[in-house]
Amino acid sequence: MTRTKIASLLSQYELGQEVLVKGWVRSFRNNQFIQLNDGSTIKNIQAVIEFENWNENELKRITTGAALAIKGTVVESTGAGQAIEIQVKELDILGDANPEEVAKTVMQPKRHSLEYLREQAHLRFRTNVFGAVFRIRHAVSYAIHQFFNDRGFYYLHTPIITGSDAEGAGEMFRVSTLDPKNPPLNEQGEIDWSEDFFGKQVNLTVSGQLEAELGALALGQVYTFGPTFRAENSNTARHLAEFWMIEPEVAFNDLEDNMNLTEEFLKHICNYVLTNCKDDLEFLNEREKNEQKQKPQNERNELTLAERLEFVVANSFERITYTKAIELLQDSKPFKKKQFKYPVEWGTDLQSEHERYLVEKHFKKPVIITDYPASFKAFYMRQNEDGKTVAAMDVLFPGIGEIVGGSQREERLDVLKKKCADFNIPEEEIWWYLDTRRFGSVPHSGFGLGFERMVMFVTGMTNIRDVIPFPRTPKNCEF
Ligand code: 4AD
Ligand code: MG
Repeated sequence: MTRTKIASLLSQYELGQEVLVKGWVRSFRNNQFIQLNDGSTIKNIQAVIEFENWNENELKRITTGAALAIKGTVVESTGAGQAIEIQVKELDILGDANPEEVAKTVMQPKRHSLEYLREQAHLRFRTNVFGAVFRIRHAVSYAIHQFFNDRGFYYLHTPIITGSDAEGAGEMFRVSTLDPKNPPLNEQGEIDWSEDFFGKQVNLTVSGQLEAELGALALGQVYTFGPTFRAENSNTARHLAEFWMIEPEVAFNDLEDNMNLTEEFLKHICNYVLTNCKDDLEFLNEREKNEQKQKPQNERNELTLAERLEFVVANSFERITYTKAIELLQDSKPFKKKQFKYPVEWGTDLQSEHERYLVEKHFKKPVIITDYPASFKAFYMRQNEDGKTVAAMDVLFPGIGEIVGGSQREERLDVLKKKCADFNIPEEEIWWYLDTRRFGSVPHSGFGLGFERMVMFVTGMTNIRDVIPFPRTPKNCEF
């Protein structure tokens, strides 16, 4: 008999049908009612045993966390909240879980903090909240591939190991095969990197964008979807040292096209989750509502999780320039009352307190800020006519802050060469990138979506460590 997944069984069944299900025990009550979950859905199936027919030693082994195979008949359930249950005919214990050990884990049936769950690499997947989050994380990846495939983009696999620092922020993890205790030295007594595996210093990529541009200027429109690495020492709820990024790059698109594509893309993801992840979303929505009740009135969200997703789908994003954003901030109450910690003046980068004010207090919707000063943006962004700003865009989301960063790229070889010089990027190191501007260069644009920040938004999780299966953060790489 082949196994039926619980999700399939709950969505399609016939009363009287014989089934085989396999899963892990969530609870076992009165020596009779087993709640079984197999990960295919947040819902459990109830399996009912007639305990007179079972020997006591077997029953003792049906404990929370144990793995079972159950054969039985699908019958109408007499209990509330479930249409069907399984009348057990055969039961195999596939894997035991010792109750004394279970009592020391997150499987113990009580409310656990997310911090505590994070410490149990394996068992946190068994909890409702992480089951829901990781099923939705999968759905979002699928929605992303679907979006680009439907629009004729090609998925381009850009390298993980690279010699370049695309963002120029110097936040790279080195990759080396040299013996750290005894590295080869040159005549000056410095490490001789020419002896290293690749014959030079290389890193883990911070972004696949530069390589994606090469693809876009031949294939027209491409996107990357891969892990990226940043050695920034920020211990915040929005930063990871290893995170996933989606970077579309489109030939012939200007900044306006880029904004339109981003907006359509982010709406598609929210819509996909609303349509395809109903049970998990409902669970997370209820969970958040309960959490909100514990908070003081002024700290509560105005909209529920599901309402926030619906809001994004239904409303256009606000689009303003950086210059306008600075004016709005300088006109704001917190600025006048000196409540901002960081200065607000033209030429300084926006801090998260400023972004939060604009998105959560002023506009109360997603905001795209464009045309930032060149001074704190990357070398590849297209210089505007004013000579001071670049055709950059950041998308800010309520509760998240920056979710997307992108720009129109500098397609003029002479301007780009000058930028490289200003940023101390030797032409002989970046010739392969400059080539795109030598042979039929065209205006083009792209952006990067922080995948985990998007998953945070659609699940309502408030710490980025809770939306990635194995978070990598400073001083934390145990499993
Ligand atoms: O703004 P960023 O640095 O832009 C780029 O890397 C460009 N190359 C993208 C492009 O134009 N193709 O990063 C893009 C997004 C951010 O908006 C943020 O959502 C996310 O990546 N991000 C991080 N997410 C988690 N942890 C970190 N340390 C992140 N740094 C950036
Ligand atoms: Mg950015």
